Amino acid sequence: MALIYWMPEYNTGIEVIDQQHHMLVDLINELYQAQENGATNEGLLKILNKVGMYATSHFAREENFFEIYNYPEAEDHIQEHTYFEDMLFQFEDECKAGRQDLTGNAISFLSDWLVNHLNGTDKEYVPFLKSKGVS
Ligand SMILES: [Fe+2]
Repeated sequence: MALIYWMPEYNTGIEVIDQQHHMLVDLINELYQAQENGATNEGLLKILNKVGMYATSHFAREENFFEIYNYPEAEDHIQEHTYFEDMLFQFEDECKAGRQDLTGNAISFLSDWLVNHLNGTDKEYVPFLKSKGVS
């Protein structure tokens, strides 16, 4: 069973973004399933690292579009990315220090943030980027 199911309204219609969003959903689901299957903290940390690396490269892709086309809402959008990364790095540190198992709370945070972000903030740039010919 997955934690996040892809909904048609999550699609932006921008190919590279949709592929990367699918991958992020898959990675959060992988993390959730590992936890459900009783993975060790170390095993969960490995997947969390993958989520972090992939999210960082995806955010850089979006932010590159913002820079190229001078997206007026870039600053607020980038702040949301930074917040997600900060929380994720905090979970990683806590895991590494053995202070916290990667509990449902952390996974719920990542999942809720992702769904809200790709179904809200990300959709706001779609008309702008499409008006610049991005597809
Ligand atoms: Fe974004």
